[in-house]
Order: sequence, then structure tokens, then C-alpha cells
Amino acid sequence: MAILPIVVLGDPLLRKETKPVTEVTDELRTLVADMFETMRAAEGIGLAAPQVGRSERLCIVHVEDAMYTLINPEIIAREGSIKWEEGCLSIPDVFGWVERASYVKVRAMDLEGKEIEVEGRELMAVCMQHEIDHLDGKLFIDHLSFLKKRQAMAAWEKEKVKYPSGLRILVPGEKAE
Ligand code: NI
Repeated sequence: MAILPIVVLGDPLLRKETKPVTEVTDELRTLVADMFETMRAAEGIGLAAPQVGRSERLCIVHVEDAMYTLINPEIIAREGSIKWEEGCLSIPDVFGWVERASYVKVRAMDLEGKEIEVEGRELMAVCMQHEIDHLDGKLFIDHLSFLKKRQAMAAWEKEKVKYPSGLRILVPGEKAE
């Protein structure tokens, strides 16, 4: 397994629509294992393929004890609303309060190629909506008001100098920043 570099805001890949996965290959399984290792190294709770430079419609989530690989995920039900202060591994150290559904049901394919349905409430619901947004080229900052988005972008202008290559390289064992 390998820790993959994470692309940061400004990379056009984060704004591109992903392509549905048609077949679960060994290469895809390796990608998912690497994504889990990368997410752990970054101390994140979710990661989407575009964030590691890929175009597959696939993301992973890990909230408390629940961990899922979601291939071609689709939200099939949503209810309620919740406000959560979100961040993103591709926009380090920038946060913003986003309102989303407090419950979602997601239909996806797992790594065995089987159809699964995953329900999430509160943080898991927030996390799945955030990650599925990534697969449509959408970021949490897009949900902010004009003013809040401007503030977030100003914060990012200061942060982004830390990533001159446009990549966030995580070193195992080092405290994630
Ligand atoms: Ni994100």
C-alpha cells in the first residue's frame, strides 16, 4: 500500500465530472487500499478519487466504526437538515459551515461488485454528501454564501503557498497538517 499525494484546490481535476466504474479490477482494489492509507495518514473521514488524481466515480468514508467503499454512489433518499463545520483534505486548514440533509441513503457498488445501500445520519450523512459532491466536481466551499466563500478563499490564498507543487504530500507517522 502507498500513501498517495493529494491534489489541492486549484487543480482542474477537482472540478471535473468523474467517470462511472464499469469493472472492479485488481488495479481498482489497489487504488482503494491506497486511498484508505492516504485518508488515515491525513486523519480524514472521507476521500474521493479526484483528490488523488483519478477520474473514477468512487469515494471512501470512515466515520466512527463505519467504513465504506462507494463505487458509482448515488443518493436515493434524503431527509432533514443539519449544519456542520466542514473541511476538506484538498483545502487544508480552511473550514466553513455547510447545511446539508441530516439523513441520506446511498446506493453504490462495493469492491466485490455487489450493489449496496448505505444509510447515514449526521456526520456520516454529511461525509457521504461531501464525498459524492467531489465526484461531480463540487466542493464544500460552493455551498457557502458569497461572503463566507470569499472569506474561505482569502484563508486559502494564505494556506496554498505551503503547496507550491499543487500537491499535498503526507509522510507516514508525521502529524497531518
Ligand atoms: Ni473534500
